[in-house]
Amino acid sequence: MTHFTQQTWKHWRLRQEDGGLAWLEIDCVDAAANTLSAEAMAEFAQVLDVLDARSPKALVIASGKAAGFIAGANIEEFTQLDSPSAARALVERGWSLFNRLAAVRYPTLALIRGHCLGGGLELALACRYRIAVDEPGTKLALPEVMLGIVPGWGGILRLPAMIGPAAALDMMLTGKGVDAKKAKRLGLVDDCVPLRVMESAARIMALSDAPPRKLPLQERVLRYAMNGPLRSKVADKARKQTAAKVSRDNYPAPFAIIDIWEKYEGNALAVPAGDPSSLEAIFASPTTKNLVRVFFLQERLKAFGKDSDFAPKHVHVVGAGVMGGDIAAVCALRGMRVTLQDQSVERIAPAIQRAAKLFERRYKGDARQVRFALDRLIPDPQGQGVPRADLIIEAIFENLEVKRSLFADLERRAKPEAVLATNTSSLRLEDIATVLQDPSRLVGIHFFNPVPMLPLVEVVQGEATDAAVLRRATGFVRAIDKLPLPVKSAPGFLVNAVLGPYMLEALRCVEEGRSPETVDAALVRFGMPIGPVELVDTVGLDIAVAAGKALAGEGATPPQRLLRLVEEGRLGRKSGEGYYRWVDGKAQKGEAGATGPELAERILAPLLAAAERCVRDGVVADADLADAGVIFGTGFAPHTGGPLHYSRSRGKTRIGGDPVVAEGAPQTVTQE
Ligand code: NAI
Repeated sequence: MTHFTQQTWKHWRLRQEDGGLAWLEIDCVDAAANTLSAEAMAEFAQVLDVLDARSPKALVIASGKAAGFIAGANIEEFTQLDSPSAARALVERGWSLFNRLAAVRYPTLALIRGHCLGGGLELALACRYRIAVDEPGTKLALPEVMLGIVPGWGGILRLPAMIGPAAALDMMLTGKGVDAKKAKRLGLVDDCVPLRVMESAARIMALSDAPPRKLPLQERVLRYAMNGPLRSKVADKARKQTAAKVSRDNYPAPFAIIDIWEKYEGNALAVPAGDPSSLEAIFASPTTKNLVRVFFLQERLKAFGKDSDFAPKHVHVVGAGVMGGDIAAVCALRGMRVTLQDQSVERIAPAIQRAAKLFERRYKGDARQVRFALDRLIPDPQGQGVPRADLIIEAIFENLEVKRSLFADLERRAKPEAVLATNTSSLRLEDIATVLQDPSRLVGIHFFNPVPMLPLVEVVQGEATDAAVLRRATGFVRAIDKLPLPVKSAPGFLVNAVLGPYMLEALRCVEEGRSPETVDAALVRFGMPIGPVELVDTVGLDIAVAAGKALAGEGATPPQRLLRLVEEGRLGRKSGEGYYRWVDGKAQKGEAGATGPELAERILAPLLAAAERCVRDGVVADADLADAGVIFGTGFAPHTGGPLHYSRSRGKTRIGGDPVVAEGAPQTVTQE
């Protein structure tokens, strides 16, 4: 006789259907996404107690939220850990609970739709089977490393066993996610199914009595060999690859993951305190706190779009150059209809070609999706899209008069409620807006190059910009999944205002006789994604000169070598030579000279001072936002928690001779 029962907890619902299959739904109360808080974990233990008492035929674990499966551990709780023993207890709780799940008598299946991250994937890995729903939102990842921590709830143990150590280390060391199809290919899930059949597929597989999926033969042989010297070979290789990207001092977690896999059978709890890979060492590292801080800074930027649901159906972009072309492509990628205007079809064509490449990369060869996206991106040399657009973004030459006559025309032809935006880097919004009947309609939406790669977008409030327009612009930035940073109209806004003096100081050091390689190496060692001299070459030396003039004023003298190179037409990467020679998009570098930390400190000082100035002058609302902007706009060493956090945590009161404002921003990281 079969039975039907239902039992609910705060975050879980358990029901057993006729035939004995149990369904467990996680649906965290008062939250948009499911997270494995201490409370949710404690309740999960109670669920297992109930099921121990009366074994179901099988158990399917699914999410009660359409938004996703489980987003991971509760990071808010993570910030409240106040001692190494509390951190150890948190890891121990998940490790034991998922070991218990892995050992239950009845078959278990995780039905994964949407995000399945961190602790959520570790829970799924402890089940006998996994099914992923083939939807664009489905993503499986162990992103702990991005927060400076390790997948201590069984991820390091089970992921390599499931998909082989090479693929597993790659996922754990980069934090990168895989979609449903890739998860199936890797063997991370047993099946990948369309949404409409997910429940029946789960039912059939859970009751199938099939043995758990095994690694393919080749991987099994490899796994066997992994118990011998091959294991340390794989670990050494991973260590080398990681060390080429980051230092162990700045980023202990990836190195700890490799150690825990190689020497401790995936059990982070087994690493003795005192070992650099121990939970105690990771907990003590400032990197961990700073990366968690960066996570919350990102959440804060995301929240800026929350009070607007403006998601334009139709965007019109004027200027199909480097910026406009990519802005249009990114909008089309997010489902918007885009008309792209330039002076001729010939000028638009390269942008469409670039977009096609981007779509192919993003849709991973799904030809239908690529075609749909290309259909949404419409070349429009006559500007016929203007009267229909909800948002018009201007990205033409940086010339005030040309921009003014364009905007005068746009305002006449656009819908009265359409948002008018400029991507200008250096012109004053107020100067452009004088031609408008209604200057309050103009807002700055300032993207960074390359647009598809860089997450930050500065949303610029001119003196006249209407608050509602600003909100809509911010909502749009979220709708294309970028991070909006509200800034006041001021030269260089935030990001260029801090980068300019930093690049200039680097060039001065070259002027004094240090090699570009030495200068760049010093800052990469500090944790910057790319050295400042290489950055100047990438941006273009002509642009650097113009920006330098605009930011430092006509009086400031640019480095002589910079001027000479520009005169000679050596403009950096785009002309094949600048401070470096460029071959196939790569700077050709010689050996870097040895330096102490003073060189990086000296070059960073003007950046830190400029960031302080931006806070003091109200370009950004507070120091946390300055840190967020500089991290997401320039890649500034995330392990420091941002430039201002860095200078403050070092207790500096004066940097580079510029007075530093001590008061101002709240130093706590809060989720808004
Ligand atoms: P670009 O020179 O690559 O492209 C400008 C395009 O605008 C050209 O294709 C040109 O034919 C077109 N154009 C000029 N006048 C026009 C008009 N009246 N009507 C239609 N099309 C017209 O320039 P880029 O680099 O894309 O810069 C565009 C804007 O974006 C500038 O305001 C610049 O300050 C800003 N910006 C540039 C960044 C960069 O790294 N290149 C970064 C952020 C902003």
